Amino acid sequence: MGPSIPTELSGCAEKLIRARRATRAFRPDAVPEDTLRAVFSLAGAAPSNSNAQPWQVEVVSGAKRARLADALQAAHAAQRTSIDVPYSEDIYTSVHQERRAAFGAELYGALGIAPGDHAARAAYDAESLRFYGAPHAAFLFVTGDGGPRLAADVGAYMQTLLLALTAYGVASCPQGLLSFYADTVRAELGVTEGKLLVGISFGYADEAAPVNRVTTERAALETLATFHG
Ligand SMILES: Cc1cc2nc3c(=O)[nH]c(=O)nc-3n(C[C@H](O)[C@H](O)[C@H](O)COP(=O)(O)O)c2cc1C
Repeated sequence: MGPSIPTELSGCAEKLIRARRATRAFRPDAVPEDTLRAVFSLAGAAPSNSNAQPWQVEVVSGAKRARLADALQAAHAAQRTSIDVPYSEDIYTSVHQERRAAFGAELYGALGIAPGDHAARAAYDAESLRFYGAPHAAFLFVTGDGGPRLAADVGAYMQTLLLALTAYGVASCPQGLLSFYADTVRAELGVTEGKLLVGISFGYADEAAPVNRVTTERAALETLATFHG
């Protein structure tokens, strides 16, 4: 048995976990420097195998952020992808694909993009390389061999970071798409180590934007957890 958790704390944790959601429209206001430091310092409490902490985080703001957004869009337009952690549609099962399709219908529906309008979807994805208008982006690199075991540790870091941001009232969107241009990110930020796993756009949410009202379902507990014994 672990330590007993006061009811008040577990209620707080539930609120925090449920308050985090992917945000895709931001206000331009920058997050104050001391808040940034507090958030990233808290995120460092993430667990990792043997406490190796195999991550490197690059946070970009201001003029650098604007330059990087331009470079990402240029790389995208020229189809200059460079992917450190392999990706293909084959990684998903048919159940995954059904969930992805349901999510896509929600998202593009909220944007007023018709299901068959591939051009409009592609344009929205290209625009998302400007961090959905967020004033900051964090790039999470897996150090060491960058393989799946260490990437799992960086996944734990990512969620801890997302919750730390939420706790400070900062909205976020993890964007796998940002990792498709790893060489561009490396070149712009002068990074020499690690494999780029994911980018996270963050800042204060534009509460009025309809896209931020998209809700996502989750699979029922029985379909994904088995309790043995
Ligand atoms: C590793 C990872 C990669 C993601 N990549 C993208 C992305 O490229 N673009 C995007 O708009 N959302 C992206 N998302 C956000 C997911 O679509 C979102 O987390 C999911 O639909 C569940 O919704 P919620 O975060 O609001 O609970 C990503 C999330 C994760 C964890």
